[in-house]
Amino acid sequence: MILAAGKGTRLKSPLPKALHTICGRPMLEFLVKRAEEAGCSPIVVVAGYKREQVKKFLGDRCETVAQTRQLGSGHAVAQAASKLKRFDGSVLVMYCDTPLIRTSSVAGLVENYRRSGSVANLLTATLDDPTGYGRVVRGGDGSVKAIIEQRDADEAQRAVREVNVGCYVFDSKKLFEALKWVPRNPGKNEYYLTDAISLLARDGRVEAVPAAEVSEMLGVNTRSDLAELEGIMQERLLKEWAERGVRIRDPRTTVIDADVRIGQDTVIQPNTVIEQGSVIGKGCTVGPFARIRGASRIGDGAVIGNFVEIVRSTVGPGSQVKHLSYLGDAVLGKRVNVGAGTITANFDGKKKHKTVIRDGAQIGSGTVLVAPVTIGRGAKTGAGAVVTRGKNVPDRAVVIGVPAKLLGKGRK
Ligand code: UD1
Ligand code: CA
Repeated sequence: MILAAGKGTRLKSPLPKALHTICGRPMLEFLVKRAEEAGCSPIVVVAGYKREQVKKFLGDRCETVAQTRQLGSGHAVAQAASKLKRFDGSVLVMYCDTPLIRTSSVAGLVENYRRSGSVANLLTATLDDPTGYGRVVRGGDGSVKAIIEQRDADEAQRAVREVNVGCYVFDSKKLFEALKWVPRNPGKNEYYLTDAISLLARDGRVEAVPAAEVSEMLGVNTRSDLAELEGIMQERLLKEWAERGVRIRDPRTTVIDADVRIGQDTVIQPNTVIEQGSVIGKGCTVGPFARIRGASRIGDGAVIGNFVEIVRSTVGPGSQVKHLSYLGDAVLGKRVNVGAGTITANFDGKKKHKTVIRDGAQIGSGTVLVAPVTIGRGAKTGAGAVVTRGKNVPDRAVVIGVPAKLLGKGRK
């Protein structure tokens, strides 16, 4: 179960908090992935503020439950009670504003829950400054006795540095039963999920499992938090690429969204942005100062050089677009060479059109290709040619000038 009903007031945005992005993907998606990896079924998302938008994003990937008034995290979980009435098992509960929780931490939590036979398990982290978070109160036997929120904590409890991450596994039946008895917390006048912990601890054992990294617990409340978390997530993603054999020359200036694929031995030069959905092959060079977006596909061994933007396009294996080009809605075959300063004029003010450049074509420097247009196999355009819409260039033909004229008829 993922709690995503909060509005995120401090983000000052019409977009619900759960849909604000980290590395190009909505925060909520990171949690849905964790739930999928843990083998959860069904996955239920509690949505409130602009829940239609949240529902639309999730499609049929998850079920949703409405929380029409945001009366607290405990109240949010309780909204799913009727949906899970017949469900008898364990339930993983996560908050949508903590997208940095790692797969391994969730797995460790679930495993500990299964092994220990406890009624609830929760992920914790020990912070130098625990201000603002729920403190974990342990008993003499090491088990968790309660979670006390900042505003309810006394001095001794405030000194506790172990805090609640907001990721739990519960015995589902016992959780919903306990929630019936949780009173409104006078602090914020809300029903806290954390107040169910002390009730459950009377019934059975509640255990705490430390998260692998402290950063996993960071949550998003403000736009600055979004920037900070994106920085941490970006660092993680770049490290993962390095481990898979991708060379990133300058991680400080490289932006690669989640949900991008890159083949081995590809080199990403500084100041490059690769946006979500794009796929880069093996042994490519990209950048410096390149931007690849709109789920573009770059084939093995291709070179995308400096100041090149590629959007919604496919570049075939071994093709080169080395300098100062814009390719939009284009399909390039194999071993195409695109000269410096080539532009696809893909937008006529109303609609976007396609440019096709077939295998081995050579596009002269400063060519403008007014889409829709096709450049044939092995064809050439002269420097500065403007190939106007629909004036397809036959295979192996040469065109020059403005508007581009055919030289001869091409060769067979
Ligand atoms: C919560 C925990 C706190 C923990 C911290 C970690 C509670 C009471 N406290 O505090 O112990 O240290 O997270 O980040 O849970 N939500 C709803 N409906 C509501 C209220 C909240 O769906 O009515 C969702 C929010 O969208 C969010 C989550 O529940 O995803 C947590 O709520 P939030 O208000 O952010 O709790 P924190 O004060 O951060
Ligand atoms: Ca929060």
